[in-house]
Amino acid sequence: MQQAIAILDSGVGGLTVAKEIMRQLPREKIIYFGDTARTPYGPRSSEEVRRFTEQIVDFLVQFNPKAIVIACNTATAAALDYISEKLPMPVIGVIHPGARAAISVTKTGNIGVIGTIGTIGSGAYTSALQQLSPYVHVVSEACPALVPLVEMGQFRSKETTAVVEDSLRGMKSSSIDCLILGCTHYPFLKETIQEVMGEKVKLISSADETAREVSTILYDKGQLASSNESPVHQFFCSGDADMFQKIAKTWLGEQIQRTPVVWQVS
Ligand code: SIN
Repeated sequence: MQQAIAILDSGVGGLTVAKEIMRQLPREKIIYFGDTARTPYGPRSSEEVRRFTEQIVDFLVQFNPKAIVIACNTATAAALDYISEKLPMPVIGVIHPGARAAISVTKTGNIGVIGTIGTIGSGAYTSALQQLSPYVHVVSEACPALVPLVEMGQFRSKETTAVVEDSLRGMKSSSIDCLILGCTHYPFLKETIQEVMGEKVKLISSADETAREVSTILYDKGQLASSNESPVHQFFCSGDADMFQKIAKTWLGEQIQRTPVVWQVS
């Protein structure tokens, strides 16, 4: 039986990471869990986010995955170290990969980061960036209004543009040359964010770099899948399965063949 890569998120945001892993590693089977009943994680305390993450990881471990990806910045900031210490398989977060991608792109060293209240408040991006380079200047801003738009499937609308404009007002008046989308939900709003920030600001999503990290780790461990059969991915969510399915279909197309199964959390 093929061992899968398990991916978890507070909702649909981690699908941006799942899509990139499916693109870079098309032989790998994915088991995805979106905690749509308890999204957003951003305004919750780090203790609560750690507890939720641990609960989902316990659920995913029963499938014996070869790696677990915490495809949620808020959960990565709150729980990555704690969870990785407890498990035998690699546990990969999205903050270090995002920071690495920004460092490789910035020309001026002025880097913007947007994320949830939990992620920005944790200072995890600033630490990760400064660990890589002492010369960077980081401007960060919490944008709590963006995740609910994505979870409602509102990617392009007048209201979305107005909310994005309002959320990025401070960021727009800074002199950053790249902006880390420090929440896996934000790539759904990438076009609007790019229009608001202007073409000179390069947007960084951690999805590509996270997928590369998963690939490197599995390659080094000799655990890359070798079957030529297309994998059938599995999806779970804790809330409205129809809404999840609708968003997942828009984002992943034919890669979601099976209806998501609801796993009730408490
Ligand atoms: C959230 O649930 O508030 C956002 C998920 C993330 O931080 O990537």
